[in-house]
Amino acid sequence: MVAFTLNGEARTLDADPEMPLLWAIRDVIGLTGTKFGCGMAQCGACTVHIDGTPTRSCQTAIGDVEGMSVTTIEGLSGKVGETVQTVWAELDVPQCGYCQSGQIMSAAALLVETPKPTDEDIDSAMSGNLCRCATYQRIRAAIHEAAHRLEA
Ligand code: FES
Ligand code: FES
Repeated sequence: MVAFTLNGEARTLDADPEMPLLWAIRDVIGLTGTKFGCGMAQCGACTVHIDGTPTRSCQTAIGDVEGMSVTTIEGLSGKVGETVQTVWAELDVPQCGYCQSGQIMSAAALLVETPKPTDEDIDSAMSGNLCRCATYQRIRAAIHEAAHRLEA
């Protein structure tokens, strides 16, 4: 039995503690906004926040989040989370969209940590999130725009 908070709600799962968090989120709980890409912590498609830190849920065992707070794209809220999602839509960042929930989760965590990120800060924070459609320029522009709006 694993007890944790998911998107602000207390959850108890009767699951093998070794089950990847990504499986629990998608297959047991049914929240499919978090994507499976590589399954090896190499692509970032499965990024969620664990106690605010962007984390690859494919390589995190459900037992490791006991007592912790997990946020998925479905639960991303607050000023930063909402601003990032608004700007992402307005700037048409996604192409196929597959990588984008992971991109947004990493971008939101970056802006909480570093409200005015430089290009280097962005490249470093986002380097683990791959995009096969190469939307990197729009991602960078969207992060700068979100930072600008959050500053106002
Ligand atoms: S699916 Fe987790 S990093 Fe690729
Ligand atoms: S938008 Fe297609 S993989 Fe990133």
